[in-house]
Amino acid sequence: MEEQEVINPAHGSGEKRMQIRESARKIFDGAANAGHDINHSLRVMDLCIHISSIEGGDSEILEAAALLHDIGRPAQLKDPAVDHATLSAQLAPDILSGAGFASQKVPAVVYAIKHHRYSFGLTPDTLEARILQDADRLDISGAVGAAMTFAYSGAMNRKLYHSSDPLAEHRQLDGDKYALDHILSKLMHLPGSMHTTTARLMAEERNRFLNGFVEQLVREITFGRRQANE
Ligand SMILES: [Fe+2]
Ligand SMILES: [Fe+2]
Repeated sequence: MEEQEVINPAHGSGEKRMQIRESARKIFDGAANAGHDINHSLRVMDLCIHISSIEGGDSEILEAAALLHDIGRPAQLKDPAVDHATLSAQLAPDILSGAGFASQKVPAVVYAIKHHRYSFGLTPDTLEARILQDADRLDISGAVGAAMTFAYSGAMNRKLYHSSDPLAEHRQLDGDKYALDHILSKLMHLPGSMHTTTARLMAEERNRFLNGFVEQLVREITFGRRQANE
């Protein structure tokens, strides 16, 4: 069966949006990126539109910003000195004008893309930029977040977990060394970092799954040790 992307058919349709999607897809095609591919951008788009239907904001700006927010990632993977948010914001205007996107909305798309990286600790000024930040982080929470963490950790040759102290009860968490540490130090705290109530509630729900996953993972990791103590 041929592989097809799964998105809400009501989103990203229309000639202009299809063109923007195709431009983004071409940039991601063939670039090894451990989960940060066109499917991430499409999921972020679906989340943006859902959040915006409750919180407000311009859905056209959000669709375009979601589709293009990470197009600088393949370049950052090759050269870590590249900031993918800045590069994505630089590449976006040409793609948008080529697709006939309303020129008066381009600056708002560029602003949202440029400010989407939460790791910079910035709270964006516009509602669309805040929603994009929320949707981007919501997509790396829950089951998808765990899957992306393990994919990225594998690509970076990191270990799954610290073998003698997986929950870091007697050491500092080190997300650069262990995938589970990244989940504990970053993913678990995502709900508290959301700007909108809609995204926070969704993140809390996804977090409940993640908590259960971590509990089971640790149960399995410590199986032999627990048996020895019985
Ligand atoms: Fe990004
Ligand atoms: Fe992203």
